[in-house]
Amino acid sequence: MGKDFIHIDDWSQNQILASFDLALEVKAKLKKRESYKPFQDYTLAMIFAKPSARTRVSFETGFVRLGGHALYLGPTEIDIGQREPAKDVARVLSGYNDMIMARLFDHAHILDLARYATVPVINGLTDYNHPCQVMADMLTIKECRGHLDQLKIAYIGDGNNIVHSWLRMSMRLPMYFICACPPNYPPDHATFEMAKNGGLSTVEIVHDPMQAVREADVVYTDVWASMGKKHELSERKRHFKGFSVTAELMAKAKPGALFMHCLPAQRGLEVTDEVMESPASIIFQQAENRMHMQNAIMLRLADKD
Ligand code: CP
Ligand code: NVA
Repeated sequence: MGKDFIHIDDWSQNQILASFDLALEVKAKLKKRESYKPFQDYTLAMIFAKPSARTRVSFETGFVRLGGHALYLGPTEIDIGQREPAKDVARVLSGYNDMIMARLFDHAHILDLARYATVPVINGLTDYNHPCQVMADMLTIKECRGHLDQLKIAYIGDGNNIVHSWLRMSMRLPMYFICACPPNYPPDHATFEMAKNGGLSTVEIVHDPMQAVREADVVYTDVWASMGKKHELSERKRHFKGFSVTAELMAKAKPGALFMHCLPAQRGLEVTDEVMESPASIIFQQAENRMHMQNAIMLRLADKD
């Protein structure tokens, strides 16, 4: 296992499955309020170039509950690439901290951080991917279904960072992953080809949401305009017409299909309020599992599993 967690496929299938087991084990300990402080006297530096609720709170709370201290470093403290290059930030923070988590714009910056840091670096989202999110998503699917066999995931919307992490997950765990996006908003071609040629899963891009959700176990969506693209929202609203997850669309999926969203959601755009609040929706379990999954990722990177 490498020093860092930057892409899901940095880990093998066995490492991913073992980390799910660890996440559930530690989740149970925390629920019981068992005293478990493997990160006592440890510090985690958390760099945020973009806004965050879940990532910030789940990493900070998780690390503190495991006995450590987490520091929030916002854009005014660390402005990677402007105030200081990533390779300098990496070595400075490695001198103070046991681990670094970063949410950045440019994926090249997280690669530089990982390359130059002497401590583990965890990707908390870049313009390219969001690996901790999709690890937590898969853990949640496993909890809800009891297994990960014969899994069909239909993603409806923008071919963004979440989709890239799903494609990379499909290279490690077998699934049928289908992405329905407007023709001008596909995922990265090279990542799609890599997943398609990976041989483990079936991956597909279509432009018809109704076709995508047929027989789907999970219907997943995300905002139409990601952080850094919010100014394009009014234009995107035109292109994404018909790509909302509605009750009608959910009814075309497999009976009992689950609805997922990484959040934050824009109700009335990519998903209706009705679907968000429906019994099919597992969005808050999904959000909570960010903390449990990341705890497991951090424990494994620190050799404390
Ligand atoms: N899903 C997620 O990463 O949420 P935040 O942007 O609030 O961290
Ligand atoms: N695709 C979204 C995910 C937010 C968690 C974004 O990058 O803004």
